[in-house]
Amino acid sequence: MTAPLPQLADNTAPHEILRAGIEAAGGPVSLACSFSLEDVAIIDIAHAAGIPLGVFALDTGRLHEETYEVAEALVERYRLKIDWYFPRHEDVEQLERDKGLFSFRESLENRHECCHIRKVEPLLRALSGLKGWVTGMRREQSVTRSDLKAVENDAANGNILKINPLLDWNERRVMDYAAEHSLPTNRLYKQKYRSIGCAPCTRAIGPWDNVREGRWWWENAENKECGLHQR
Ligand code: ADX
Ligand code: SF4
Repeated sequence: MTAPLPQLADNTAPHEILRAGIEAAGGPVSLACSFSLEDVAIIDIAHAAGIPLGVFALDTGRLHEETYEVAEALVERYRLKIDWYFPRHEDVEQLERDKGLFSFRESLENRHECCHIRKVEPLLRALSGLKGWVTGMRREQSVTRSDLKAVENDAANGNILKINPLLDWNERRVMDYAAEHSLPTNRLYKQKYRSIGCAPCTRAIGPWDNVREGRWWWENAENKECGLHQR
């Protein structure tokens, strides 16, 4: 059965979206944390508003060292407990034996296979038992996200709720929030990275590029999702 969605006005503040979403979910809700500026801002917002929020992270095995440094900084600053999820080792071993370490560059099908093994399958385990999950997605990030809702039904994941508290924030606003609150920040942002995922599938971009241009840069914009956010 699907939970009724809260009716929220445009420009509802992120902490109010969080509260309304968690209440509507009626059970455990966790943030999916990639340690992006957005995700760190959500942790800070929840912390400041006294909203209890679990945090899980998918360690694909291909993350940057700089990303792990943010994770440790968060543990220290907020006394955070992070529920880490890894891919099934048998699947990674098989993939790497059969197709090598960079198969994802060869075709969209191979890229989806790698993302499925390293992200989507662990996500399914992370979501089991949850009534809702929170993401740092924003509408302006891409054509695939322009119609996001603050709280939506996640049909791809068993009709739990998906809560996107920063959906209407632009990149500038996220950066300003991070600066004003001295948030732990991935050092790669200083090296012209603007969206950070797995190391071999992420690169620095220019100021006028679309924010996700450096993700899977060899693919078209409409393909730039890894399967975590099927809608
Ligand atoms: S991605 O899904 O294509 O990688 P992006 O990096 O923009 O998207 O992240 C969007 C949101 O997906 C993040 O704010 C976070 O909620 C979630 N997410 C992405 N990667 C991870 C990860 N490795 N672990 C947990 N959550 C993640
Ligand atoms: Fe594999 Fe790249 Fe997807 Fe990471 S982003 S899971 S390395 S294809």
